[in-house]
Amino acid sequence: MILPDSKFRHSWDLVVLIFAVYSAVTIPLIIIFNIFSELFSDISAWITTAVFLGDIFVKFNTAIPGRGKLVFDRKAIAKKYIASWFLIDLLAAVPLYTVSKFFTVVRLGKIVGIIRLNRLLKLLRISKSLKRLGGPGINPAIFRLILLVFWILMAAHTIACGWIMMTGNPDGLTPFDLYIRAFYWTTTTLTTIGYGDILPVNTNQIIYVIIIEFIGAGMYGLIIGNIANLIANIDVAKAQHREKMEKLNTFLRYRDIPQDLSRKINSYFEYLWQTRRGYNESSVLAELPSSLKTWVSLFLNKDIIEKVPIFEGASDEFIKETIMNLVPVVYTPGDYIVTAGEVGYDMFFISKGSVDVVSADGTTVYATLSDGHFFGEIALLLSMPRTASIVAKGYCDLYSLDKDTFDMILARYPSFAKNIKELAEKRRDEIDAARMKRADETMVEDEKKYSVPGKIEELILKITGSKMNLSWKEVKDFGHYEVVRRIPDSNKWIFLDKNLLFTNYIYENYENLTELEYRVRAVNVSGPGPWSDIVTAAGTKTESSS
Ligand code: CMP
Repeated sequence: MILPDSKFRHSWDLVVLIFAVYSAVTIPLIIIFNIFSELFSDISAWITTAVFLGDIFVKFNTAIPGRGKLVFDRKAIAKKYIASWFLIDLLAAVPLYTVSKFFTVVRLGKIVGIIRLNRLLKLLRISKSLKRLGGPGINPAIFRLILLVFWILMAAHTIACGWIMMTGNPDGLTPFDLYIRAFYWTTTTLTTIGYGDILPVNTNQIIYVIIIEFIGAGMYGLIIGNIANLIANIDVAKAQHREKMEKLNTFLRYRDIPQDLSRKINSYFEYLWQTRRGYNESSVLAELPSSLKTWVSLFLNKDIIEKVPIFEGASDEFIKETIMNLVPVVYTPGDYIVTAGEVGYDMFFISKGSVDVVSADGTTVYATLSDGHFFGEIALLLSMPRTASIVAKGYCDLYSLDKDTFDMILARYPSFAKNIKELAEKRRDEIDAARMKRADETMVEDEKKYSVPGKIEELILKITGSKMNLSWKEVKDFGHYEVVRRIPDSNKWIFLDKNLLFTNYIYENYENLTELEYRVRAVNVSGPGPWSDIVTAAGTKTESSS
């Protein structure tokens, strides 16, 4: 029994195809021009017969697709074949003309040659084999266009030969010239151009022309419709992409989206087109049955499997389980993929592109990650807010893995859990260390910014009525001033103001307090400056009153 999809069956179909086309091209020529010698046409007729009979034999012995499985039962196969194409195949196989020679004593005219045309029936059977010639490498629309041209040429050839048969050779042209003229007549008639330079001269010819004209009108409509359709479909994806972009840009214009943002959106879609022809992998995969989905996923993600070190040496089940749950996502340059301090629900694998791991304020870059690295695992593993922000440096193709799947994988594959936990802890420690270092540096920097303030100069105390006014010259790098007064008869000083931002201190109810001493100093983050010389209220009071 032959399998319908076996190599033998495909090769055999190709042989039948070649003989069918050979017969369809040569037989009309043999009928009108006798292009071959009698012997050669007889031999080729017998060989063709052998091939076509062989084809019937093959058909009787090929399993047929049944419900869910192949049917090998000869009786069922024969029944189905006889009910469908057997008669056509048989008619095409019989060498009618060659056989007829044995029966007719008197050679009939050329007209009898027509009975050879039964071979053309085999053309009805070759469309399947023809279609199989186009593989996945050839654009299906272009291939259909090629097939359409093939069928048009076959029809035009037969009709041209028919025309020669109807009109004969009144001008005594060579067979080649005659054929070209007839072919020319056929194309002008079939395409409904009809220049009218070659005309039917008798009723039979007029009837032939009428028939061909009807066929031509039908074919013309069919061809134009088909070609328009085929050309539109040559690049379906591109056409869809263009349409999508037009719609999108109309929307962006209509809603007055700023130019910069529009440009960003456009270049994002351009990137999607360049990298995956505008297809969304997840939705394509969603249409596949699960077994095929696994294979396609594995194939599509094989680069990520090769690149990510934790997949190295992992078991097939582990890889399959992880890969199936990865969702492809694309980020554009400058996007925050993860924001420090937020709650995390996913981790990410980088398929293509690079990202910066930065501090919450964006000033420190802790690390740069690229193809094959992953991030976002700390928040999931250690149940803490995101330790850092992740910013896309250019376009980034990432795969995200949600927390549920991640937890499930951790539970099932302890060695993976151990690896990733170690890495997460190492990374968190690095971040902590970097933060501490940064804090130290900031303090040193702040100190560098301010030197300790100098001594207060030109300290003056004025008393006008009950108002005391203490003023002094501003010192460099002060943060604030502190004013103290000595407690009478002791060595202790009390603070009158600890956070004075101006260079004077006013005391409104200064009542005859004599002999009081004051000092002032400036303070900043680097520390306090030295105390000023002491000013005494008594002295100044005398001065001011004098
Ligand atoms: P998560 O805290 O969830 O979000 C920020 C991510 O940045 C973090 O997980 C890690 O994956 C990643 N990350 C943090 N620190 C470092 C580091 N020192 N080197 C590389 N990646 C880091």
